[in-house]
Amino acid sequence: MNAAYLSTTTTTAGPELGSAMPAATSAQATGARATSPAATAVPDKPAARIAVVGCGWWAQGWHLPHLHRHPDAEVVALVEPSATIRSTLNPDVEQLEQLATRYSARPFASLDALLAAGLKVDGVVIAASHNAHYELGRKALAAGWHVFMEKPMTCSAAEAAGLLQQVEATDGKQCFMVNNTANWRENTASAKAWVAAGRIGKVRHVSCAMGSPLTWLFEDAANVGWVRPSGPMLGNGMAWGQLSHSLAWVYYVTGLVPQSVYADMSHSEATGADLYDAAIVRCTNGALISVQGVATISGDKPTSETDARPTGKYIENRIFGTEGSIEYNGIDCEPESGALRLRRHDYNGEVNTGFAFEDGDQGGIGPASLQAFVRRCRGDATRNGCDALIGYRTAATIDAMYRSFQEGQRLAVPTAQEALGHSSNAENGGAKRPRRG
Ligand SMILES: NC(=O)c1ccc[n+]([C@@H]2O[C@H](COP(=O)([O-])OP(=O)(O)OC[C@H]3O[C@@H](n4cnc5c(N)ncnc54)[C@H](O)[C@@H]3O)[C@@H](O)[C@H]2O)c1
Repeated sequence: MNAAYLSTTTTTAGPELGSAMPAATSAQATGARATSPAATAVPDKPAARIAVVGCGWWAQGWHLPHLHRHPDAEVVALVEPSATIRSTLNPDVEQLEQLATRYSARPFASLDALLAAGLKVDGVVIAASHNAHYELGRKALAAGWHVFMEKPMTCSAAEAAGLLQQVEATDGKQCFMVNNTANWRENTASAKAWVAAGRIGKVRHVSCAMGSPLTWLFEDAANVGWVRPSGPMLGNGMAWGQLSHSLAWVYYVTGLVPQSVYADMSHSEATGADLYDAAIVRCTNGALISVQGVATISGDKPTSETDARPTGKYIENRIFGTEGSIEYNGIDCEPESGALRLRRHDYNGEVNTGFAFEDGDQGGIGPASLQAFVRRCRGDATRNGCDALIGYRTAATIDAMYRSFQEGQRLAVPTAQEALGHSSNAENGGAKRPRRG
């Protein structure tokens, strides 16, 4: 990666749109492969052969440079159908041929063309527009590849259920990860372990709120992929674009299964994107999740690589159980702004200092999610912070939120079987539910 490339990617908006984006180091600027202990190549195993599908803003600023610097990964193919890649978030994005030269990878105009070429691929990173995720995921899984899917996993419950079914049919041979990076954080693993060990008893209630400084994104009609619904989407904005992070975190940490949703939303007059979302999710065990999304907290699009990024996303997750509660609150680019706290009714609590939610660092070899994917592509076991089941519950909840808003009533969140049109509903214990929650 040359310096010119660095300057084009770092003058744009931040990682998952609103969290910390530190200036790159000189090693990053030269595109040198990382030499930190975490990045040391594992000898005697070939590098993971990765195809990157969808080469727009996010792939160019994050996945491609991360994988290029990763000593155990090789970008073997790039797939991008657009003859002219454009991004309102980075006017200097490069075109497919330039990217192919930069990363020494073969360019393809479609996933079908890559499949027809018979290239050896271990895993695919899908960073295409939301509404292309399902078809691309379906084909990649059918090809026998591991899949690293950008969020949201898909744009409807039915699509997510289709991918979940395909993943389950591989019987663990293929991994499917959704890039909700917060789910790979150490404190997330601790919170999950506390819940699993019964430290807060039975989970009865969750409050999760996310505030993002994204007025510049959701109030600009040119950002079509973020503000305009397409494919099966009933709406677009804060819920598809951001709340997948909070919901995937809650479902991963708690193991709760959504059963019904009542949601209300209010929208940008300029774009129609939902900017403010409020939802109540009833879960199969009776627990409630109160969800809030606000897209307009203070903070603007960063304008240069030296931008101090004074504000990040505001995250507030609280899980209440019969014997205590867990809190994980803070601002996601300010580690000192929060901590993970276990409060127990018997006062035998714990505190893990530091707050880290999404990982949008542009430097290094990528977030823990991508690093785990590379390891899995090389045949090593890894923790999957957001598998297809968590992805399904998240996508099905958001889909139901948009439907609930549109219909003005509480609606059932289908089980994966129901979403596929099958009669069994094993995921919620077989309880029959009316379609209206
Ligand atoms: N995890 C995160 O923190 C994070 C952050 C930003 C974006 N994202 C996700 O990454 C994805 C891409 O976002 P973006 O802002 O880069 O969008 P973008 O529009 O800049 O890029 C998407 C690219 O996908 C291409 N594409 C569309 N259909 C395709 C297909 N069938 N095959 C191959 N390529 C196809 C488009 O031509 C475009 O170049 C979105 O789903 C977004 O939600 C995730």
